[in-house]
Amino acid sequence: MKTTTLLSLTAAVALTFSAAKVVAESHGAMSPADAIAKRMALMGSMGDQTKLLVGMLRGAPLDWAVIAAAGDNTQMVAKTMPTLMVEGSFMKPSTASPVIELDMEGITERFEKLGMDGKMLSDAAAAEDPEAFQAAFGAYISNCKGCHSNYRI
Ligand code: HEC
Repeated sequence: MKTTTLLSLTAAVALTFSAAKVVAESHGAMSPADAIAKRMALMGSMGDQTKLLVGMLRGAPLDWAVIAAAGDNTQMVAKTMPTLMVEGSFMKPSTASPVIELDMEGITERFEKLGMDGKMLSDAAAAEDPEAFQAAFGAYISNCKGCHSNYRI
């Protein structure tokens, strides 16, 4: 048990750290290549944390530190992503659709919803409430597919 907790804590810290690093570097004028790299890193962190959360829903021990880190990271990603949609950044290796440039409002609304659902995850972790975690995860995961099918190529 001790090892599991330690491992998950390490994962949570690594998650928070890699996301914080991306944000710290995101100030100043940004080239399309930088914007793409940052978007992919942020979204990659969403993929990694989702795997950890799914594992817990499938029976791995609930680790509130990991859930809290995932909630916080989600809020940060949701806030940062719209700022990374810079001109000329809708090309390889990005899978972001050029449609985004024509519909910043639509995608920004979706990121706002994602941020609120990230907060639900953080709140569930703060309360250490398994039912709230399940509900928050349901809301959280409902965002991924909808946005990807509209705004990714
Ligand atoms: C509001 C829009 C939006 C939401 C919500 C969203 N994504 Fe994404 N996602 C994107 C966009 C845009 C890209 C393409 C980024 C790029 O390549 O520039 C992407 C790419 C990805 C990638 C590929 C990253 C890579 O390295 O190419 C993963 C993994 C991912 N998202 C996971 C998730 C998960 C998991 C969720 C839900 C918990 C989620 N996303 C929710 C917009 C969204």
